Amino acid sequence: MKYHIQTFGCQMNVSDSDWLDRSLKSAGFEKASAEDDAGIFIINTCSVREKPEQKVYSHLGRLKFFLEKNPSAFACVGGCVAQQVGRDFFQRFPYVRLVFGPDGLGMVPGALKRLEQDPALKISLLDFEDYYPEKPGNWPERMPPRAFVNIMQGCDNYCAYCVVPYTRGRQKSRSSREIINECRELIRLGVKEITLLGQNVNSFGRDKNGLEISFARLLRELNSIQGLRRLRFTTSHPKDMSSGVIKAFGELETLCPHLHLPLQSGSDKILKDMGRGYTTQKYLELVDSLRLVRPDITLSTDLIVGFPGESDEDFQLTLEMMNDVGFDSSFSFKYSDRPGVRAALMGPKISEEVKSARLDVLQKLQQEWTAKKLARRVGSSDLVLMDGPSKKQKAGVYSWQGRDGGGRVVNIDFHNREDLTGMILPVRFTRAKKHSLEGEVAS
Ligand code: 5AD
Ligand code: SF4
Repeated sequence: MKYHIQTFGCQMNVSDSDWLDRSLKSAGFEKASAEDDAGIFIINTCSVREKPEQKVYSHLGRLKFFLEKNPSAFACVGGCVAQQVGRDFFQRFPYVRLVFGPDGLGMVPGALKRLEQDPALKISLLDFEDYYPEKPGNWPERMPPRAFVNIMQGCDNYCAYCVVPYTRGRQKSRSSREIINECRELIRLGVKEITLLGQNVNSFGRDKNGLEISFARLLRELNSIQGLRRLRFTTSHPKDMSSGVIKAFGELETLCPHLHLPLQSGSDKILKDMGRGYTTQKYLELVDSLRLVRPDITLSTDLIVGFPGESDEDFQLTLEMMNDVGFDSSFSFKYSDRPGVRAALMGPKISEEVKSARLDVLQKLQQEWTAKKLARRVGSSDLVLMDGPSKKQKAGVYSWQGRDGGGRVVNIDFHNREDLTGMILPVRFTRAKKHSLEGEVAS
Protein backbone atom coordinates (compact mmCIF):
# COMPACT_ATOMS: atom_id res chain seq x y z
CA MET A 1 0.00 0.00 0.00
CA LYS A 2 1.14 3.52 -0.75
CA TYR A 3 1.63 6.05 2.05
CA HIS A 4 0.65 9.69 2.50
CA ILE A 5 2.10 11.94 5.20
CA GLN A 6 0.30 15.00 6.53
CA THR A 7 2.30 17.28 8.85
CA PHE A 8 1.03 19.79 11.37
CA GLY A 9 3.10 22.13 13.49
CA CYS A 10 6.65 23.29 13.86
CA GLN A 11 9.91 22.87 11.96
CA MET A 12 10.84 19.89 14.16
CA ASN A 13 7.74 18.10 12.93
CA VAL A 14 8.47 18.96 9.32
CA SER A 15 11.97 17.60 9.76
CA ASP A 16 10.63 14.40 11.42
CA SER A 17 8.18 13.92 8.53
CA ASP A 18 10.97 14.41 6.00
CA TRP A 19 12.95 11.69 7.75
CA LEU A 20 9.96 9.35 7.71
CA ASP A 21 9.36 10.03 4.04
CA ARG A 22 12.98 9.19 3.13
CA SER A 23 13.05 6.14 5.38
CA LEU A 24 9.80 4.69 4.09
CA LYS A 25 11.07 5.06 0.54
CA SER A 26 14.32 3.31 1.39
CA ALA A 27 12.38 0.53 3.19
CA GLY A 28 10.53 -0.16 -0.09
CA PHE A 29 7.26 1.70 0.53
CA GLU A 30 5.79 3.74 -2.28
CA LYS A 31 4.63 7.32 -1.83
CA ALA A 32 1.08 8.12 -2.95
CA SER A 33 0.70 10.90 -5.48
CA ALA A 34 -2.41 12.15 -3.66
CA GLU A 35 -4.56 11.19 -0.67
CA ASP A 36 -7.06 9.18 -2.74
CA ASP A 37 -4.20 7.03 -4.02
CA ALA A 38 -2.98 6.11 -0.50
CA GLY A 39 -3.65 3.17 1.81
CA ILE A 40 -1.50 4.22 4.77
CA PHE A 41 -2.35 7.67 6.11
CA ILE A 42 0.26 9.10 8.46
CA ILE A 43 -0.53 12.25 10.41
CA ASN A 44 2.36 13.88 12.21
CA THR A 45 0.86 16.10 14.87
CA CYS A 46 1.68 19.03 17.10
CA SER A 47 -0.11 20.07 20.29
CA VAL A 48 1.79 23.21 21.26
CA ARG A 49 -1.28 25.31 20.57
CA GLU A 50 -4.91 24.30 20.55
CA LYS A 51 -5.56 24.93 16.89
CA PRO A 52 -3.16 22.32 15.49
CA GLU A 53 -4.73 19.72 17.81
CA GLN A 54 -8.23 20.48 16.51
CA LYS A 55 -6.89 20.18 12.98
CA VAL A 56 -5.78 16.60 13.70
CA TYR A 57 -9.24 15.54 14.81
CA SER A 58 -10.98 17.11 11.85
CA HIS A 59 -8.35 15.63 9.51
CA LEU A 60 -8.95 12.16 10.96
CA GLY A 61 -12.69 12.65 10.53
CA ARG A 62 -12.17 13.59 6.90
CA LEU A 63 -10.00 10.51 6.27
CA LYS A 64 -13.00 8.29 7.01
CA PHE A 65 -14.11 8.93 3.42
CA PHE A 66 -10.93 7.34 1.98
CA LEU A 67 -10.76 4.57 4.56
CA GLU A 68 -14.30 3.37 3.96
CA LYS A 69 -13.56 3.01 0.26
CA ASN A 70 -10.58 0.76 0.98
CA PRO A 71 -11.08 -1.73 3.86
CA SER A 72 -7.37 -2.57 4.21
CA ALA A 73 -6.39 1.10 4.49
CA PHE A 74 -5.50 2.49 7.93
CA ALA A 75 -4.25 5.63 9.67
CA CYS A 76 -1.24 6.32 11.91
CA VAL A 77 -0.92 9.25 14.30
CA GLY A 78 2.51 10.47 15.37
CA GLY A 79 4.12 13.39 17.17
CA CYS A 80 2.98 15.38 20.18
CA VAL A 81 -0.77 14.77 20.05
CA ALA A 82 -0.12 11.03 19.71
CA GLN A 83 2.14 11.14 22.76
CA GLN A 84 -0.59 12.86 24.77
CA VAL A 85 -3.73 11.09 23.61
CA GLY A 86 -1.91 7.75 23.20
CA ARG A 87 -3.87 4.54 22.83
CA ASP A 88 -7.19 6.41 23.26
CA PHE A 89 -6.88 7.07 19.54
CA PHE A 90 -7.60 3.36 18.97
CA GLN A 91 -10.99 3.77 20.70
CA ARG A 92 -11.93 7.12 19.22
CA PHE A 93 -10.95 6.27 15.65
CA PRO A 94 -11.09 2.51 14.93
CA TYR A 95 -9.13 2.90 11.71
CA VAL A 96 -6.09 4.26 13.60
CA ARG A 97 -3.71 1.30 13.94
CA LEU A 98 -0.44 2.98 14.94
CA VAL A 99 0.33 5.74 17.42
CA PHE A 100 3.91 6.90 17.87
CA GLY A 101 5.56 9.60 19.98
CA PRO A 102 8.63 11.61 19.01
CA ASP A 103 11.01 8.95 20.38
CA GLY A 104 9.16 6.16 18.55
CA LEU A 105 9.64 7.66 15.09
CA GLY A 106 12.67 5.49 14.25
CA MET A 107 10.59 2.31 14.67
CA VAL A 108 7.75 3.38 12.37
CA PRO A 109 8.99 1.78 9.10
CA GLY A 110 9.30 -1.62 10.85
CA ALA A 111 5.91 -1.21 12.54
CA LEU A 112 4.21 -0.45 9.22
CA LYS A 113 5.56 -3.67 7.73
CA ARG A 114 4.07 -5.64 10.64
CA LEU A 115 0.72 -3.82 10.35
CA GLU A 116 0.52 -4.66 6.67
CA GLN A 117 1.14 -8.35 7.38
CA ASP A 118 -1.31 -8.66 10.28
CA PRO A 119 -4.61 -6.76 9.76
CA ALA A 120 -5.71 -7.37 13.37
CA LEU A 121 -2.65 -5.71 14.88
CA LYS A 122 -2.47 -2.27 16.51
CA ILE A 123 0.84 -0.82 17.68
CA SER A 124 1.75 1.99 20.07
CA LEU A 125 5.29 3.39 20.24
CA LEU A 126 5.03 5.88 23.07
CA ASP A 127 8.01 5.21 25.35
CA PHE A 128 10.56 7.93 26.02
CA GLU A 129 14.19 7.00 25.61
CA ASP A 130 16.86 8.16 28.09
CA TYR A 131 19.19 9.16 25.29
CA TYR A 132 18.77 10.90 21.95
CA PRO A 133 17.26 8.24 19.64
CA GLU A 134 19.81 8.11 16.80
CA LYS A 135 18.39 7.11 13.39
CA PRO A 136 20.05 6.46 10.03
CA GLY A 137 19.85 9.61 7.83
CA ASN A 138 18.64 7.78 4.70
CA TRP A 139 19.56 10.88 2.69
CA PRO A 140 18.90 10.91 -1.06
CA GLU A 141 21.83 11.07 -3.50
CA ARG A 142 21.38 14.78 -4.09
CA MET A 143 20.11 17.28 -1.51
CA PRO A 144 18.60 20.75 -1.93
CA PRO A 145 20.90 23.61 -0.83
CA ARG A 146 19.29 24.05 2.60
CA ALA A 147 18.88 21.31 5.19
CA PHE A 148 17.89 20.89 8.84
CA VAL A 149 19.86 18.90 11.40
CA ASN A 150 18.35 17.88 14.71
CA ILE A 151 20.70 18.41 17.62
CA MET A 152 18.46 17.61 20.55
CA GLN A 153 15.08 16.33 21.56
CA GLY A 154 12.73 17.53 24.31
CA CYS A 155 12.96 20.40 26.78
CA ASP A 156 13.60 20.86 30.50
CA ASN A 157 12.25 24.37 30.91
CA TYR A 158 8.63 23.80 31.83
CA CYS A 159 7.45 27.30 30.85
CA ALA A 160 4.04 27.62 32.50
CA TYR A 161 2.05 27.59 29.24
CA CYS A 162 3.99 24.93 27.37
CA VAL A 163 3.20 21.29 26.77
CA VAL A 164 6.51 20.40 25.06
CA PRO A 165 8.32 18.92 28.11
CA TYR A 166 5.36 16.53 28.49
CA THR A 167 5.01 15.55 24.84
CA ARG A 168 8.66 15.55 23.76
CA GLY A 169 10.11 14.55 27.09
CA ARG A 170 13.19 15.72 28.96
CA GLN A 171 16.05 17.34 27.09
CA LYS A 172 18.35 14.87 25.34
CA SER A 173 21.28 16.23 23.35
CA ARG A 174 22.51 14.34 20.33
CA SER A 175 26.17 13.36 20.30
CA SER A 176 28.27 16.13 18.76
CA ARG A 177 30.18 13.49 16.78
CA GLU A 178 26.94 12.33 15.13
CA ILE A 179 25.92 15.94 14.41
CA ILE A 180 29.27 16.77 12.82
CA ASN A 181 29.23 13.58 10.75
CA GLU A 182 25.71 14.26 9.55
CA CYS A 183 26.62 17.83 8.57
CA ARG A 184 29.68 16.57 6.65
CA GLU A 185 27.52 14.03 4.83
CA LEU A 186 24.93 16.67 3.91
CA ILE A 187 27.57 18.99 2.51
CA ARG A 188 28.91 16.13 0.42
CA LEU A 189 25.38 15.72 -0.98
CA GLY A 190 25.16 19.36 -2.06
CA VAL A 191 23.92 21.20 1.03
CA LYS A 192 25.25 24.75 1.50
CA GLU A 193 23.23 25.91 4.47
CA ILE A 194 22.43 24.00 7.65
CA THR A 195 19.90 24.98 10.31
CA LEU A 196 20.40 23.26 13.65
CA LEU A 197 17.12 22.33 15.29
CA GLY A 198 16.08 21.88 18.90
CA GLN A 199 13.52 23.22 21.39
CA ASN A 200 16.21 25.10 23.28
CA VAL A 201 19.47 24.82 21.39
CA ASN A 202 21.34 27.12 23.77
CA SER A 203 21.20 24.51 26.49
CA PHE A 204 22.67 21.86 24.17
CA GLY A 205 24.92 19.53 26.16
CA ARG A 206 23.47 20.51 29.51
CA ASP A 207 21.15 17.51 29.91
CA LYS A 208 20.34 15.88 33.20
CA ASN A 209 22.87 13.15 32.39
CA GLY A 210 24.74 14.82 29.55
CA LEU A 211 28.44 15.20 28.96
CA GLU A 212 28.44 16.95 25.63
CA ILE A 213 30.37 20.03 24.50
CA SER A 214 28.69 23.46 24.87
CA PHE A 215 26.52 24.92 22.11
CA ALA A 216 29.08 27.67 21.44
CA ARG A 217 31.76 25.02 20.97
CA LEU A 218 29.48 23.00 18.68
CA LEU A 219 28.98 26.08 16.51
CA ARG A 220 32.76 26.50 16.28
CA GLU A 221 33.29 22.88 15.31
CA LEU A 222 30.63 23.08 12.60
CA ASN A 223 31.95 26.40 11.32
CA SER A 224 35.24 24.75 10.51
CA ILE A 225 33.72 22.04 8.27
CA GLN A 226 35.02 22.46 4.72
CA GLY A 227 32.25 23.38 2.26
CA LEU A 228 29.69 24.63 4.77
CA ARG A 229 28.68 28.12 3.68
CA ARG A 230 25.90 29.01 6.09
CA LEU A 231 24.93 27.96 9.57
CA ARG A 232 21.73 28.87 11.45
CA PHE A 233 19.95 27.54 14.51
CA THR A 234 16.54 27.60 16.14
CA THR A 235 15.04 27.90 18.75
CA SER A 236 16.94 29.86 21.36
CA HIS A 237 15.90 30.65 24.90
CA PRO A 238 16.97 34.12 26.09
CA LYS A 239 17.90 32.86 29.56
CA ASP A 240 20.40 30.39 28.09
CA MET A 241 22.12 32.61 25.51
CA SER A 242 25.73 32.37 26.64
CA SER A 243 28.39 35.00 25.99
CA GLY A 244 30.16 32.34 23.89
CA VAL A 245 27.21 32.15 21.49
CA ILE A 246 26.94 35.95 21.29
CA LYS A 247 30.66 36.13 20.51
CA ALA A 248 30.21 33.49 17.83
CA PHE A 249 27.90 35.85 15.92
CA GLY A 250 30.78 38.29 15.62
CA GLU A 251 33.44 35.70 14.80
CA LEU A 252 32.17 32.71 12.88
CA GLU A 253 32.23 33.24 9.15
CA THR A 254 29.37 30.84 8.38
CA LEU A 255 27.02 31.87 11.19
CA CYS A 256 24.21 33.88 9.57
CA PRO A 257 23.17 37.20 11.09
CA HIS A 258 19.75 35.92 12.11
CA LEU A 259 18.38 34.95 15.49
CA HIS A 260 14.95 33.76 16.50
CA LEU A 261 14.69 34.77 20.15
CA PRO A 262 11.25 34.18 21.65
CA LEU A 263 10.28 37.03 23.98
CA GLN A 264 6.69 35.81 24.69
CA SER A 265 5.69 38.96 26.63
CA GLY A 266 6.92 42.50 27.29
CA SER A 267 5.64 42.52 30.88
CA ASP A 268 7.99 41.44 33.64
CA LYS A 269 5.06 40.27 35.73
CA ILE A 270 3.80 38.00 32.94
CA LEU A 271 7.32 36.76 32.16
CA LYS A 272 7.66 35.80 35.81
CA ASP A 273 4.30 33.99 35.81
CA MET A 274 5.34 32.23 32.63
CA GLY A 275 8.51 31.08 34.40
CA ARG A 276 10.71 32.35 31.60
CA GLY A 277 13.70 33.19 33.79
CA TYR A 278 14.54 36.64 32.33
CA THR A 279 13.29 40.21 32.56
CA THR A 280 12.67 42.66 29.73
CA GLN A 281 15.80 44.52 30.88
CA LYS A 282 17.87 41.34 30.45
CA TYR A 283 16.31 40.72 27.04
CA LEU A 284 17.15 44.25 25.89
CA GLU A 285 20.73 43.85 27.15
CA LEU A 286 20.98 40.66 25.14
CA VAL A 287 19.74 42.44 22.02
CA ASP A 288 22.29 45.22 22.58
CA SER A 289 25.17 42.81 22.95
CA LEU A 290 24.10 40.92 19.82
CA ARG A 291 23.86 44.14 17.83
CA LEU A 292 27.23 45.22 19.14
CA VAL A 293 28.96 42.19 17.62
CA ARG A 294 26.62 41.91 14.59
CA PRO A 295 24.91 45.26 13.82
CA ASP A 296 23.06 43.76 10.84
CA ILE A 297 21.54 40.88 12.82
CA THR A 298 17.91 40.07 11.94
CA LEU A 299 15.79 39.40 14.99
CA SER A 300 12.55 37.46 15.03
CA THR A 301 10.46 36.40 17.99
CA ASP A 302 7.42 34.56 19.37
CA LEU A 303 4.77 36.38 21.39
CA ILE A 304 1.74 35.19 23.32
CA VAL A 305 -1.23 37.46 24.01
CA GLY A 306 -3.84 36.82 26.68
CA PHE A 307 -1.77 34.76 29.11
CA PRO A 308 -3.84 34.36 32.34
CA GLY A 309 -3.86 37.64 34.26
CA GLU A 310 -2.53 39.74 31.35
CA SER A 311 -3.90 43.27 31.92
CA ASP A 312 -4.19 46.03 29.33
CA GLU A 313 -1.04 47.55 30.87
CA ASP A 314 0.84 44.26 30.48
CA PHE A 315 -0.19 44.13 26.84
CA GLN A 316 0.89 47.76 26.30
CA LEU A 317 4.30 46.77 27.65
CA THR A 318 4.52 44.06 24.98
CA LEU A 319 3.81 46.69 22.32
CA GLU A 320 6.50 48.90 23.86
CA MET A 321 9.01 46.06 23.78
CA MET A 322 8.22 45.50 20.11
CA ASN A 323 9.07 49.12 19.46
CA ASP A 324 12.16 49.03 21.68
CA VAL A 325 13.60 46.00 19.89
CA GLY A 326 12.18 46.53 16.40
CA PHE A 327 11.75 42.89 15.40
CA ASP A 328 12.14 42.06 11.73
CA SER A 329 9.34 39.53 12.05
CA SER A 330 7.37 37.69 14.69
CA PHE A 331 4.98 34.84 15.25
CA SER A 332 2.19 35.75 17.65
CA PHE A 333 -0.40 33.53 19.24
CA LYS A 334 -3.46 33.73 21.45
CA TYR A 335 -2.79 31.92 24.70
CA SER A 336 -4.63 28.61 24.99
CA ASP A 337 -4.82 26.24 27.95
CA ARG A 338 -2.94 23.02 27.31
CA PRO A 339 -3.70 19.94 29.39
CA GLY A 340 -1.49 19.48 32.44
CA VAL A 341 0.52 22.70 32.17
CA ARG A 342 0.82 25.08 35.15
CA ALA A 343 -0.87 28.02 33.41
CA ALA A 344 -4.04 25.96 32.94
CA LEU A 345 -4.63 26.47 36.68
CA MET A 346 -3.80 30.19 36.60
CA GLY A 347 -6.33 33.01 36.36
CA PRO A 348 -8.07 35.16 35.54
CA LYS A 349 -8.48 33.83 32.01
CA ILE A 350 -8.68 36.41 29.25
CA SER A 351 -11.74 36.36 26.98
CA GLU A 352 -11.48 35.32 23.33
CA GLU A 353 -12.60 38.80 22.22
CA VAL A 354 -9.85 40.54 24.17
CA LYS A 355 -7.25 38.02 22.95
CA SER A 356 -8.31 38.52 19.33
CA ALA A 357 -8.29 42.31 19.66
CA ARG A 358 -4.80 42.26 21.22
CA LEU A 359 -3.47 39.89 18.59
CA ASP A 360 -4.78 42.16 15.88
CA VAL A 361 -3.07 45.24 17.33
CA LEU A 362 0.18 43.33 17.82
CA GLN A 363 0.20 41.92 14.30
CA LYS A 364 -0.51 45.33 12.76
CA LEU A 365 2.41 46.82 14.67
CA GLN A 366 4.62 43.96 13.48
CA GLN A 367 3.57 44.55 9.88
CA GLU A 368 4.72 48.16 10.21
CA TRP A 369 8.09 47.05 11.57
CA THR A 370 8.51 44.37 8.93
CA ALA A 371 7.78 46.92 6.19
CA LYS A 372 10.20 49.43 7.74
CA LYS A 373 12.96 46.84 8.09
CA LEU A 374 12.55 45.54 4.54
CA ALA A 375 12.47 49.07 3.13
CA ARG A 376 15.79 49.80 4.85
CA ARG A 377 17.41 46.99 2.86
CA VAL A 378 16.60 48.61 -0.49
CA GLY A 379 19.78 49.95 -2.09
CA SER A 380 22.08 47.67 -0.08
CA SER A 381 23.62 44.37 -1.20
CA ASP A 382 24.08 40.93 0.32
CA LEU A 383 24.88 37.39 -0.71
CA VAL A 384 21.80 35.36 -1.63
CA LEU A 385 21.65 31.56 -1.61
CA MET A 386 19.45 30.45 -4.51
CA ASP A 387 16.80 27.89 -3.51
CA GLY A 388 15.01 27.37 -6.83
CA PRO A 389 12.65 28.99 -9.34
CA SER A 390 10.11 31.41 -7.78
CA LYS A 391 6.53 30.23 -7.46
CA LYS A 392 5.25 33.17 -9.50
CA GLN A 393 6.86 33.50 -12.92
CA LYS A 394 6.57 36.65 -15.05
CA ALA A 395 6.49 36.70 -18.86
CA GLY A 396 9.83 37.03 -20.62
CA VAL A 397 12.10 36.42 -17.59
CA TYR A 398 13.12 33.55 -15.32
CA SER A 399 12.44 34.41 -11.71
CA TRP A 400 14.47 32.76 -8.95
CA GLN A 401 14.00 32.68 -5.21
CA GLY A 402 16.68 32.67 -2.56
CA ARG A 403 17.49 33.93 0.92
CA ASP A 404 19.82 36.60 2.16
CA GLY A 405 22.00 36.22 5.26
CA GLY A 406 19.21 37.42 7.53
CA GLY A 407 16.90 34.72 6.14
CA ARG A 408 14.70 37.10 4.11
CA VAL A 409 13.13 35.78 0.92
CA VAL A 410 14.58 37.45 -2.20
CA ASN A 411 13.25 37.19 -5.77
CA ILE A 412 15.53 37.91 -8.69
CA ASP A 413 14.74 37.99 -12.43
CA PHE A 414 17.18 36.52 -14.97
CA HIS A 415 17.13 36.70 -18.74
CA ASN A 416 18.84 33.37 -19.33
CA ARG A 417 17.46 30.02 -18.40
CA GLU A 418 20.09 28.24 -16.30
CA ASP A 419 20.07 26.19 -13.15
CA LEU A 420 21.15 28.45 -10.28
CA THR A 421 20.13 26.10 -7.44
CA GLY A 422 22.67 26.27 -4.61
CA MET A 423 24.58 29.24 -6.04
CA ILE A 424 25.47 32.08 -3.73
CA LEU A 425 25.23 35.37 -5.64
CA PRO A 426 25.85 39.00 -4.72
CA VAL A 427 22.50 40.77 -5.00
CA ARG A 428 21.49 44.42 -4.76
CA PHE A 429 17.99 44.91 -3.34
CA THR A 430 15.79 47.03 -5.56
CA ARG A 431 12.34 46.77 -4.00
CA ALA A 432 10.65 45.76 -0.76
CA LYS A 433 7.43 43.75 -0.89
CA LYS A 434 5.22 42.86 2.10
CA HIS A 435 7.29 39.87 3.27
CA SER A 436 10.13 39.69 0.77
CA LEU A 437 12.65 41.62 -1.30
CA GLU A 438 13.30 41.95 -5.00
CA GLY A 439 16.83 42.33 -6.26
CA GLU A 440 19.26 42.12 -9.13
CA VAL A 441 22.65 40.47 -9.34
CA ALA A 442 25.26 43.04 -8.39
CA SER A 443 28.29 43.17 -10.66
N1 5AD B 1 -0.70 29.03 23.97
C1 5AD B 1 -0.31 29.88 23.00
N2 5AD B 1 0.91 29.86 22.43
C2 5AD B 1 1.78 28.95 22.88
N3 5AD B 1 3.05 28.69 22.52
C3 5AD B 1 3.49 27.64 23.25
N4 5AD B 1 2.52 27.22 24.09
C4 5AD B 1 1.45 28.02 23.89
C5 5AD B 1 0.15 28.09 24.44
N5 5AD B 1 -0.25 27.26 25.40
C6 5AD B 1 3.79 29.46 21.52
C7 5AD B 1 5.03 30.12 22.14
C8 5AD B 1 6.16 29.29 21.59
C9 5AD B 1 5.61 28.86 20.24
C10 5AD B 1 6.28 27.71 19.62
O1 5AD B 1 4.25 28.58 20.51
O2 5AD B 1 5.11 31.44 21.68
O3 5AD B 1 7.37 30.00 21.48
FE1 SF4 C 1 8.17 25.12 25.73
FE2 SF4 C 1 9.59 26.83 27.24
FE3 SF4 C 1 10.69 24.51 26.39
FE4 SF4 C 1 10.20 26.47 24.62
S1 SF4 C 1 11.63 26.59 26.35
S2 SF4 C 1 9.75 24.26 24.36
S3 SF4 C 1 8.32 27.37 25.43
S4 SF4 C 1 8.98 24.72 27.81
